[in-house]
Amino acid sequence: MGEPFDAVDVIVTKRDGGRLSDAQVGWVVDAYVRGVVAEEQMAALAMAVLLVGMDAAETACWTGAMVASGRRLDFAGLSRPTVDKHSTGGVGDKTTLPLGPVVASFGVAVPQLSGRGLGHTGGTLDKLESIPGWSPSLSPDQIRAQLESVGAVVAAAGDDLAPADRRLYALRDITGTVASVPLIASSIMSKKIAEGTSALVLDVKVGTGAFLPDAATARELAQTMVRLGEGAGVRTTAVLTDMSTPLGMTVGNALEVREAVEVLAGGGPPDVVELTCVLAHEMLTLAGRPDADPAAALADGTAMDVWRAMVRAQGGDPAAPLPQATCTDDLTATESGTVASVDALCVGTAAWRLGAGRTRRDDQVQPGAGVELLVRPGDHVRSGQRLARLHTDTPDRLARAREALASAFTIARTPPSPRRLVLDRIGG
Ligand code: URA
Repeated sequence: MGEPFDAVDVIVTKRDGGRLSDAQVGWVVDAYVRGVVAEEQMAALAMAVLLVGMDAAETACWTGAMVASGRRLDFAGLSRPTVDKHSTGGVGDKTTLPLGPVVASFGVAVPQLSGRGLGHTGGTLDKLESIPGWSPSLSPDQIRAQLESVGAVVAAAGDDLAPADRRLYALRDITGTVASVPLIASSIMSKKIAEGTSALVLDVKVGTGAFLPDAATARELAQTMVRLGEGAGVRTTAVLTDMSTPLGMTVGNALEVREAVEVLAGGGPPDVVELTCVLAHEMLTLAGRPDADPAAALADGTAMDVWRAMVRAQGGDPAAPLPQATCTDDLTATESGTVASVDALCVGTAAWRLGAGRTRRDDQVQPGAGVELLVRPGDHVRSGQRLARLHTDTPDRLARAREALASAFTIARTPPSPRRLVLDRIGG
């Protein structure tokens, strides 16, 4: 049987500012997966969408078509409500690690299906894989069993979850078509809807270290994703959070796990604790537990118990020493004054250059590599004082990493205005 549409007609309609019908959207996504729409045709359509946009109905239909391209997990029948969190990616953002255990300690199931990091923001799987023995490879049945027994799970998203997005995202990556709100929103939400969670909290980052640096676009993305989630029957709220400064004092896989464990032990940097508690409160509210106190679960060790159980259930040893890089080097202040800012993108780039991140999807990351910040905005420093420590297994990476890291610090005469971590909240 012939195809109901022609790819060129669909491209030209969008190129000329038109809107695509539900049938056209459904067809083009499906035909792309079947190989009927060629890569160059999809690239042209993605560029037309980037330049012209898609309205709410087109975006919802596009998202639905990507969900329908693969398997949709279903946690119906589980004895606990499910709620997940997705972050658009930030430098030093390790909140996923304490968050699952905190929320699960109140009897809520947190099914986190995650990907690996690309570029200057680290992936959750890369961080957890620095724990000796820990594995993200779980079948849907194993995920369900762990949700029932432990409550929290972090697993690799299978290839059969929104496969259309997998291909399209890789194509957008090499054709300059990532930065489109409808394409980003449908990409993220198709994976989260297919994951089968009943509720979702989105942490949309704003600032230099974020994927979308400006607040207006980040807000539009958040609103679009909340609408897509609600339309697909997933209760969804979003918070806009600051990502102009790295979160916490560490950036890099094992370094971030260490800091996350400090938070689970009732300590850790105040900004990581604050964001963990804000997101946990949002998740618990969606799960019908608005009165639960996340800070108490961190202080009294109940979240730590769930963390240990989660790590053990996935083959890891929560007591094993974490890998350490073989080589360290310090960056020192060249003048005295007050730390006015620590730029997230520069720190993320430095950690990436040290080996903490990957450039291509199949690159290996160094578990011990990264940056440890020794000062925060507002701290007074003297010339010669250490600002940060660099960690790597490959000393020849140090020079370029130092270059990026040196430009992260602005030392001034006057203290910076206080940081507001949570900038806005959308939905609910
Ligand atoms: N993350 C995704 O999963 N998709 C995008 O398009 C951008 C960020």
